[in-house]
Amino acid sequence: MIKLCFYKAEDFEDLTSYDLDEIQSRFTAMPKATLEIIKEKNAGDKFPVSILYQNKAVGFFVLDFGVDKFDLTENENSTLLRSLSINPDYQGKGIGKIAMIALLDFVKDHFPECNEVVLAVNFDNKSAYELYLKCGFEDQGKSREMSKGFQHLLNKKIE
Ligand SMILES: CC(C)(COP(=O)(O)OP(=O)(O)OC[C@H]1O[C@@H](n2cnc3c(N)ncnc32)[C@H](O)[C@@H]1OP(=O)(O)O)[C@@H](O)C(=O)NCCC(=O)NCCS
Repeated sequence: MIKLCFYKAEDFEDLTSYDLDEIQSRFTAMPKATLEIIKEKNAGDKFPVSILYQNKAVGFFVLDFGVDKFDLTENENSTLLRSLSINPDYQGKGIGKIAMIALLDFVKDHFPECNEVVLAVNFDNKSAYELYLKCGFEDQGKSREMSKGFQHLLNKKIE
C-alpha cells in the first residue's frame, strides 16, 4: 500500500537512511539537504511530502509554490514538483509510478486552487523522464540549460 502524506518528523530517520549513487545524485537533492533548506528559508510556500510504503517513508518530494516555478510556467496557480527520490532499496517496484499518479488526488485534496504541476527533468535522466510521461506529464518540447545540463520542462494539468 503506497500513500502520500505531508512529511512529519517521524519520517526523518527513514528518509535520511538512504543514499543515491553518483549518477542518480546528479539528478535530485536528497531529503536531508532539502529539509534543511526548507527549515531555514521556507516562507510557508514549500510542502515536503513523504511517500509511504507499508507505512515506511521510502521516498520524498516537495511541492513548491514559491517563485521558482515561474522559470517553467507563467501559471500562478501551479506548483513545482522537486527533489523527488525513492530509496534505492525500493526502486524498480512501481512505487515512483504509483506516487506520481497519486499526486493528482493529493494536490486536488490539499491545494484545490492548484490546477497544474510543473517540473524539470535532466535529459540524461531517462528513467525519470519515462516515469513522468507514463504518469500523464506532458512534454511540450520546452527545455532549459542548467549547470548540470539540459532539462525537459514537463507539466500536468489538474482538472
Ligand atoms: C526516478 C525514480 C523516482 C523512479 O522511481 P521508481 O520507484 O524506481 O520507479 P518505478 O519502479 O515506479 O518505475 C516507473 C517507470 O520509470 C522507468 N524506470 C524506473 N527505473 C528505471 C530504470 N532503472 N531504467 C529504465 N527505466 C526505469 C520505467 O519507465 C518505469 O516504468 P515501467 O515499470 O512501466 O517500466 C527513482 O529511480 C529515483 O529516485 N531516481 C533518483 C532521483 C531522480 O532521478 N529523481 C527525479 C528527479 S527529476
